[in-house]
Amino acid sequence: MADRGNRIAVFGAGYVGLVTGACFAELGHRVTVRDVIPARIEALRRGEVPIFEPGLEDLLERNRERLSFTLDVAEAIDGAEFVYVAVGTPPTYSGDADLSAVWTVIDELPAVDHRVVVAMKSTVPVGTGEKVRHRLDERGLAHVGYVSNPEFTAEGTAVRDFMEPDRIVVGAFDEADGDAVEGLHRGIEAPVVRSDVASAEMIKLAANAALMTRISFINEIANVCEATGADVVKVAEGIGHDRRIGKSFLRAGVGFGGSCFPKDSLALKQLAASSGYHFQVLNAVIEVNELQKRRVIGKLKQRLGALRGKRIALLGLAFKPNTDDTREAPAFVLAGRLLAEGADVVAWDPVAHADGLHGVEQVGTVDEATRGADAVVLVTEWPELADVDWAAVAAQMRTPLFVDGRNMLDPETMRAAGFTYDGIGRAAAVER
Ligand code: UGA
Repeated sequence: MADRGNRIAVFGAGYVGLVTGACFAELGHRVTVRDVIPARIEALRRGEVPIFEPGLEDLLERNRERLSFTLDVAEAIDGAEFVYVAVGTPPTYSGDADLSAVWTVIDELPAVDHRVVVAMKSTVPVGTGEKVRHRLDERGLAHVGYVSNPEFTAEGTAVRDFMEPDRIVVGAFDEADGDAVEGLHRGIEAPVVRSDVASAEMIKLAANAALMTRISFINEIANVCEATGADVVKVAEGIGHDRRIGKSFLRAGVGFGGSCFPKDSLALKQLAASSGYHFQVLNAVIEVNELQKRRVIGKLKQRLGALRGKRIALLGLAFKPNTDDTREAPAFVLAGRLLAEGADVVAWDPVAHADGLHGVEQVGTVDEATRGADAVVLVTEWPELADVDWAAVAAQMRTPLFVDGRNMLDPETMRAAGFTYDGIGRAAAVER
């Protein structure tokens, strides 16, 4: 692709910053990624990718000539026409987003005399752009533009999500800045939604809230299915054909986790509360998710009685497959509850680690995890679990109880393999 010569500085070499930088380089721009962690920058300079994200390594390698990495703010900004902010915005104790890393970037911005547009990729509360605008003006940087350009990429499919997005959202104070940021995406086929800054900020929060609402909704339908003898997988299929509803994000399970949904739901809840509004639906979505993670404990107790001394195998630690990310992972909540009940917990995951989960034994194979176990809980739907010889697993367990927390496996096949099989919302009540 021809080098169109736009110069972009990306602040933050985390998963969002690296994907953004690599994809803009792929689109022909020259990108400098800046981070504050020396080991991270050194690794990137050596061509090593510090995070597990399919396709990212290839993209960085292919665009080596257009990409550079630095610890130095001045070097990153030198000649840059765009400054992308892609730093973390973790929750504070109050649930509000911690914007200190964002403010550091804004305050460290050198007093450039040429036109630069700051573009916000980090997820921030509505109103942040307005505050940044004031801060820039106060610093005599009225000529520096500001645009909200939120990301909608999911871990594991981030590169594809960036290059083939459902939409691109650009919220600007100044039309020309919005045009410039829109122009950076030339080469990507997608509808572009142009808006004011506050609306762009809200689009990001509302999109995640809508997806979380669907998950908690289908999880509640699953719980009612369990009580009434219906099967949520069939129900999801049946409602998903309705074009007004759609098929995606209707997989019932042990609840959502990850670095975005739990944090963004709290941030939106706090944002609403601080503005004097009690966001009832969102509160319910969060509460349903918390309860959902714990329901598996009830299923185990129903079959095994007290869990003290019982050996429980957890299959999957990552919050979803194809990532090593365990932030807010349901497996961690489950493990914590099981340990509190006095169970022995053994865990398997192909890439994620049980770091910080004291008392959990992590093993390298499904075979080791399940040997002599009283129950298996499938927590993350890793594709390799489709190929396990389940009859052999059932034969080596103390009691062949299988709780499929993601409804990944076929109930009849699992029962034929020798298991007492229970999914989420799957009419297990029929055989009780
Ligand atoms: C999510 C959004 O999907 C992205 O659009 C967004 O950009 C991103 O957050 C973000 O704000 O940065 P991500 O957290 O990577 O992406 O993962 P998802 O694939 O959305 O899954 C989140 C959680 O929901 C996982 O724990 C997954 O197991 C769970 N989930 C998802 C369900 O329980 N059921 C479903 O039907 C779908």
